[in-house]
Amino acid sequence: NSESTLSITVVGASGDLAKKKIFPALFALYYEDCLPKNFVVFGYARTKMTDEELRNMISRTLTCRIDKRENCEDKMDQFLKRCFYHSGQYNSEEHFVELNKKMKEKEAGNLSNRLFYLSVPPNIFVDVVRCASLRASSENGWTRVIVEKPFGRDSESSGELTRCLKQYLTEDQIFRIDHYLGKELVENLSVLRFSNLVFEPLWSRNYIRNVQLIFSEDFGTEGRGGYFDNYGIIRDIMQNHLLQILALFAMETPVSLDAEDIRNEKVKVLRSMRPLQLEDVVVGQYKGHSKGGKSYPAYTDDPTVPKDSLTATFAAAALFINNARWDGVPFLMKAGKALHTKRAEIRVQFRHVPGNLYRRNFGTDLDKATNELVLRVQPDEAIYLKINNKVPGLGMRLDRSDLNLLYRARYPREIPDAYERLLLDAIEGERRLFIRSDELDAAWQLFTPLLNELEEKKIVPELYPYGSRGPVGAHYLAANHNVRWGDLS
Ligand code: BG6
Repeated sequence: NSESTLSITVVGASGDLAKKKIFPALFALYYEDCLPKNFVVFGYARTKMTDEELRNMISRTLTCRIDKRENCEDKMDQFLKRCFYHSGQYNSEEHFVELNKKMKEKEAGNLSNRLFYLSVPPNIFVDVVRCASLRASSENGWTRVIVEKPFGRDSESSGELTRCLKQYLTEDQIFRIDHYLGKELVENLSVLRFSNLVFEPLWSRNYIRNVQLIFSEDFGTEGRGGYFDNYGIIRDIMQNHLLQILALFAMETPVSLDAEDIRNEKVKVLRSMRPLQLEDVVVGQYKGHSKGGKSYPAYTDDPTVPKDSLTATFAAAALFINNARWDGVPFLMKAGKALHTKRAEIRVQFRHVPGNLYRRNFGTDLDKATNELVLRVQPDEAIYLKINNKVPGLGMRLDRSDLNLLYRARYPREIPDAYERLLLDAIEGERRLFIRSDELDAAWQLFTPLLNELEEKKIVPELYPYGSRGPVGAHYLAANHNVRWGDLS
């Protein structure tokens, strides 16, 4: 509706996520003409700041990356003029009454829709939701709230959070974000599978030997140790980002592309999985290390981390889906900080060719001859398929080669940030890429018994040097399931 105003309030506006991701994503959407004609952005946080100070703070992180068009600076000014700030406590209804007043002034009596982005720690979610929904929700349009993980620490705390939020919001109003679902290659997973004849028929235990979901970062928890130590890598990356990718990868064909149909299928996959046990995982923690005259800190060197912390900064896990399609196929996950490279990818290793005529050309290691499909989520997005090919010449020598779709060559325009996609979807009421409460619950049920056991038994993580390829235990775990990590071979 051209007469309505969209008010977007970023709660926790002075925090890192807001500065680095949310405001820049909003600007990018504005720049791309994706925001409605009338919109206003409010920053809300405890820090005292004027509108001008907020604008200065935001302007430092806005970039004109898209096409580098000439009018970018003007657009930035116009965007900043629509940004306002209100300082207040997160649990004060009175302060949200004031915010509401300010919002109404800027909305100029129009029909208004209100989106709140909670970029705050989870222990204040409920306070903010209470104050915002009671005192600052839209009177004549919709009100939606985006929340960022962590959604609890385990099944119980997550369930409690869901129940509390539901006192103030309906499930339709809650948008639980998992920013990995907004990544281009993750979104493309369904397109690849369901709109190409050549993949879907192979997408089962009949042809796929194993699937690997790999996340690695080449930096530690620098500056975030306080948060991280309370969660660890399993809760930070596996239970959400990697598990979401797994569910999308493994789900049955949904009835339609409708959000409920897709999420119904994802929940079914999660509920078909066996909760993880101790023998299904290997945990690690990075230790200090010096290389080339430079020294790298141990996780426990972080001043906000207890010296005797047993928190895992690395984990590898083997998961199984007990259904007809995937029975017996290992889904291996690996996630770690302070490793040798920054990368996220999905690797699908196919079975051997039965009675391969060219067997002799591969020597004794037939694994080297199997096809592998790789979706490199980041960096340098790509989809490639490893195939066997004859090396041109008079002899008969085979070579493993790649059919390679390199995004930067095929689609040279820069890829939008995940937050742009997800914010736009929330504004448009598209829930496909957001996590429904039953999905969240199923995800926690898979990991909670393991997390409890790790804590109760005080399992000591295997140390690995900062910048290395992670603990050796990850290889043994894979080998137990007849798997070799594709990123290392
Ligand atoms: C976040 C985690 O969800 O994802 C961080 O909390 C991690 O620990 C980040 O660094 C990685 O996101 P990206 O988009 O940079 O791969």
